[in-house]
Amino acid sequence: MPQSDAAARAVPGAPSMTYAAITGWGKCMPPSVLSNADLATFLDTDDEWITTRTGIRERRISHVSGISMAHVACARALACAGLEPADVDLVIYGSCSNDEAVPNSASGLQLKLGATNAAAMDVNTACTSFLYGLSTATAMIRTGVVRNAVVVGVELISPFMDWMNRGVAVLFGDGAAAVVLQATEQKEGVLAQKLGCYADARGILRVRGMGTTYANRGVALGDTIWDFDGQEIFKRAVHGMTTASHDVLAKSGYRADEIDLVVPHQANLRIIEFVAKRVGAPMERVFLTVQKYGNMSAATVPVALVEALEQGRVQPGALILTPAFGGGLTWCSHLIRWGKRTTPIGTTEVDLPPPRQTALERIRELIALKEPHGRSNSGLMSAELAEVPQSEPAPGAPSSLAA
Ligand code: ACO
Repeated sequence: MPQSDAAARAVPGAPSMTYAAITGWGKCMPPSVLSNADLATFLDTDDEWITTRTGIRERRISHVSGISMAHVACARALACAGLEPADVDLVIYGSCSNDEAVPNSASGLQLKLGATNAAAMDVNTACTSFLYGLSTATAMIRTGVVRNAVVVGVELISPFMDWMNRGVAVLFGDGAAAVVLQATEQKEGVLAQKLGCYADARGILRVRGMGTTYANRGVALGDTIWDFDGQEIFKRAVHGMTTASHDVLAKSGYRADEIDLVVPHQANLRIIEFVAKRVGAPMERVFLTVQKYGNMSAATVPVALVEALEQGRVQPGALILTPAFGGGLTWCSHLIRWGKRTTPIGTTEVDLPPPRQTALERIRELIALKEPHGRSNSGLMSAELAEVPQSEPAPGAPSSLAA
């Protein structure tokens, strides 16, 4: 995967290279708003604690599936690029909250879009899924495997949230946004990237209850324990995002003061402020959505990118940096050169149906749906089995799992 454009810069008259320009963009934000005051009606929390610690004032709660949100975002991105669904060669669905495990979500999105000529794959690196997908699509375009790709970051977190845990319930929201990438000879799109993972820290950010480890252990799907070491996440996030950003600047040859806009992952305003300071970007050049959408995991960066375009914060030819981190603990940064066009070629009528409930009514319904099942703590703690080497069975582990 070409991670640098330094070579192409250095060789005058070098043969032209294929790049992957971002030519379309679209978002799908569910209309139902859950405020901090709404959360305080069933959690021991308040607006001041949440805004002081995280910067979050409200978030969106979806009344439709992840694929439905992704469909609207992608249809808008395709219209923006002036492409038909049949023009798409590749669909990448970046998410860690898939509607189903089999079949994959990208196939459901391909079907809804009518992108009948496209390959379709899911990418899950948690909150960095959209950006890892962006790297994958860019590499496939630059190596000539495909010419047109759609990459969506989408997350439907609300059904899996432990709504009684104030430490995490206040942090997240649902949403989706997509970009269209097209082959071009212009030097546009991802110019440099750095992808990494602190796998030794994978245990500091775990949602127990999602995955086969929990099967047949009395765990109802949707019953979760969010096992987060918030302070360790904070430190690792700042380190990974900063390291990756320094790396892309060094290998592309750009200085921090040449970055026009930073569009970071938005888990917490304080993390963003630390990263911006260490990278050398003033906060006036950082685009924020965390206050109104919270952390939408894989959807966070693309939604912010689309809003930055809608608000005129992306100028033709702009240089954009997108540092991010996610469970795993994955981290990355991309340096993106925007093209000449910052307005859509077209629009679409595709939209979500209206919700039949408020966000708070939906959350109360989700809490009620979880209640009859109770919680299987022993089943939810069985993730330890996944960490034990094959030769050392976990104490009390069934032989079929330990073999
Ligand atoms: N309202 C009121 N009090 C709360 C709340 C809440 N919503 N949540 C926790 N508290 C209380 C705790 O119970 C604790 O009380 P105690 O001292 O009486 O025991 C106190 O506040 C401090 O709790 P901490 O968890 O230590 O709070 P901290 O200062 O670490 O802030 C936070 C928590 C905001 C999550 C912080 O750790 C953080 O920003 N972490 C990084 C971001 C993060 O983890 N995001 C999750 C997703 S990661 C991703 O996007 C990939």
